[in-house]
Amino acid sequence: MDVFVIKGGRKLSGTIRINGSKNAALPLMTAALLTDEPLILSEVPNLSDIRNMTKLLGELGVQSDIETTDLGQTITHRVVDPTQSHARYEIVRTMRASISTLGPLVAKRGYARVSLPGGCAIGQRPVDLHLRGLEALGAKITLDGGDIIAQAPGGRLIGASVFLGGPFGSTVLGTANILSAATLARGTTIIESAACEPEIVDLANMLIAMGAKISGAGSPRITIEGVEELSGTTHRVMPDRIEAGTYMCAAAITQSEITLDNCPLDAMMSATDTLGHMGVDVNAVGSADDPMRRSCVISRTGAITPVQITTQPHPGFPTDLQAQFMALLCLSNGNAVITEKIFPERFLHVAELCRMGAQIHRQGATAVVTGVQQLTGAPVMASDLRASAGLVIAALAAQGQTIINRVYHIDRGYEHLEDKPAKVGASIRRANAEEFANSTMTL
Ligand code: EPU
Repeated sequence: MDVFVIKGGRKLSGTIRINGSKNAALPLMTAALLTDEPLILSEVPNLSDIRNMTKLLGELGVQSDIETTDLGQTITHRVVDPTQSHARYEIVRTMRASISTLGPLVAKRGYARVSLPGGCAIGQRPVDLHLRGLEALGAKITLDGGDIIAQAPGGRLIGASVFLGGPFGSTVLGTANILSAATLARGTTIIESAACEPEIVDLANMLIAMGAKISGAGSPRITIEGVEELSGTTHRVMPDRIEAGTYMCAAAITQSEITLDNCPLDAMMSATDTLGHMGVDVNAVGSADDPMRRSCVISRTGAITPVQITTQPHPGFPTDLQAQFMALLCLSNGNAVITEKIFPERFLHVAELCRMGAQIHRQGATAVVTGVQQLTGAPVMASDLRASAGLVIAALAAQGQTIINRVYHIDRGYEHLEDKPAKVGASIRRANAEEFANSTMTL
């Protein structure tokens, strides 16, 4: 098992290129199940979640040819065996996004057996809305041995009105599942209370390029007219807004100036607006031709002003940046309040930040962060992907050395997390946990 060894306090300077989005790429990959033709995705990030999805698709009869380029991976997906429809627990338990194979499988093959994902570190995470949506499209859903079995009577789903609103708003992967499934259903589907996340828009754009008839993606009402079949296509995965937001926090906490290239600024307004209120400048530079692929300069010179943050569905503040902003607010000059409305238990980073000297008081889904003058390096434990990213942000500014254990969580969602900040001047390296413990290794 690896650890990150980070020595805080270094200024950052230079340029980081943002890679393709993990959360866009995963449902885009499962759309390969919807067509008999090749689906080519470029700028797919090289992450363990992507490798797991490639493995799962392989078990579902999809061959993936991977070419590595300077801009990430180009993966050509081809269905070679459409008889396989079982997403096994052994893979699903490593990656909840496996659930996004369910809609494409039942829509195209008329049958799916997908292991029910269990809870995870950030909460219970039910899939009831996914199942309700597929049932509305005519699928017969049963449970057997921990697996969801979905069957389309007569082999084809039927268009319907589907309401995807739940207690915490809509569901992102649920919307991806129903949207994908409805492309091949007979008749028209209306998804009401659809997720408006930019990753859903990216998926809809690709499905349209494959011949799907979709309107309204990016709004709470999406209309899909089912077609007989979809073709293959070539699609460039949108850049990762959460990776971009994480590096914005890295620049801000180290009081540095860095440039981000390939940054999806148009999808990040809640984060950049919040940074503005905190005294962090985010300035777009260069061509504005594609608002989802901008260059921008992030800098901070004054103190960090405390703010109130409430996580919400897009275009509200993203839950996936909550931990990183909390790390930044640990050094503000006052009291900040963070309320987590998407995953009310997503606070595993709080105790670890407190080990580094942060003052955070949590009550239920709200945390009050009282700014301190200085964080101090410490051994800490990564728990989930974004909590771990928050610890990296804190460590970059902390006095002394921080050891982050269990970095496999970070490898799920950040490509080369040790390389990109190091390239702009951070002191961060990966080490084998046992070797590190047995050595006097210094940076
Ligand atoms: N929910 C239900 N029923 C459902 C589905 C969801 O009650 O059937 C609840 C969830 O428990 C949660 C809320 O609805 O309280 C929103 O969950 P959602 O379904 O939108 O989450 P997801 O689609 O499973 C994606 C991202 C997450 C991100 C959330 C919210 C991927 C692969 N995952 O998950 O990303 O936090 O949307 O934006 O796209 C991450 O990248 O670290 C990550 C966890």
